[in-house]
Amino acid sequence: MEPTELIWMSGRFVPWAEANVHVLTHGLHYGTGVFDSLRTYATDAGPALVHHRAHHERLRDSARLYGMELPFSVDELTAATRELVGGSGLRESYVRTIAFRGSGAMGVSPRGSPVEVAIATWGWGAYLGDEAATRGIRAKVSSWRRIGHQTHLPGAKATAHYLNSVLARSEAEELGFDEAILLDDDGLLAEGSGENLFLVKDDLLITPPLASGALGGITRAAVLELAAALEIPLAERPVTRGELYLADELFMTGTAAEITPVREVDLRPIGAGLRGPVTERIQSAYDAAVHGRDPRFAHWLDVVPVATGSPA
Ligand SMILES: Cc1ncc(COP(=O)(O)O)c(C=O)c1O
Repeated sequence: MEPTELIWMSGRFVPWAEANVHVLTHGLHYGTGVFDSLRTYATDAGPALVHHRAHHERLRDSARLYGMELPFSVDELTAATRELVGGSGLRESYVRTIAFRGSGAMGVSPRGSPVEVAIATWGWGAYLGDEAATRGIRAKVSSWRRIGHQTHLPGAKATAHYLNSVLARSEAEELGFDEAILLDDDGLLAEGSGENLFLVKDDLLITPPLASGALGGITRAAVLELAAALEIPLAERPVTRGELYLADELFMTGTAAEITPVREVDLRPIGAGLRGPVTERIQSAYDAAVHGRDPRFAHWLDVVPVATGSPA
């Protein structure tokens, strides 16, 4: 991670190295935090924050699900992010917003620990490796199940949920795979450790419903919008493990992962074991949209003017 100059912390900009919290922070001990991430892409008019408002709205909703009222409105977070990105001088970057219970009281009860919010930005390349977008990755169905609706609120992007993701991703990596695929308690497909999943079978695009415990991905929603524009038939329905193995194509979506083909699952090649044509079409449509080259998706972008003197 290459540091940038400033991080926004609960209403003020502080130098990167000074954006610290107390060791008795409630969120550190009990997982009382939620976060969200977005990417900015270079466009002719300047860096564009993709689905900017939707990410802060999801942060607000994640917080609400766990009984946290954010001390900043979506408008205030949006303005702070624009200022941070504009001042960073970066043409393309990743933006991480986190809200957590700070220090104040110890004990499981969150009462007495005020909610703090921070926003940071830095340059971040391909999440699943440079070749992943063209060659595809190798995934493993995890021995871990995706957290469920009986014990958590999987629709929230909560810090504590990521212990589940960490278990799955670590297992996959230790066994030599790039990424994990998690099933739900019924053995149906949920998602990756940090991505939603789509498969293609007989020209039909299929993605599991959010009832599976998958996060309501903003890239997932964008792909649904792209599929409609590209007239690719789509079904949102439960998917079995066997269907994964017999898919013609498989890909993952996420802010960090963008659109990444999966070429192999559990050592079985998916389709021809290469990036498939539908995946490639969606990838290139997504790439055009986020770089401001497709006016049909201009509403995805919030373009920020770059600071004077920084590279345009
Ligand atoms: C568990 C999980 N699922 C799915 C996603 C994809 O969501 P999005 O496209 O909004 O980044 C993410 C990343 O945010 C994630 O962490």
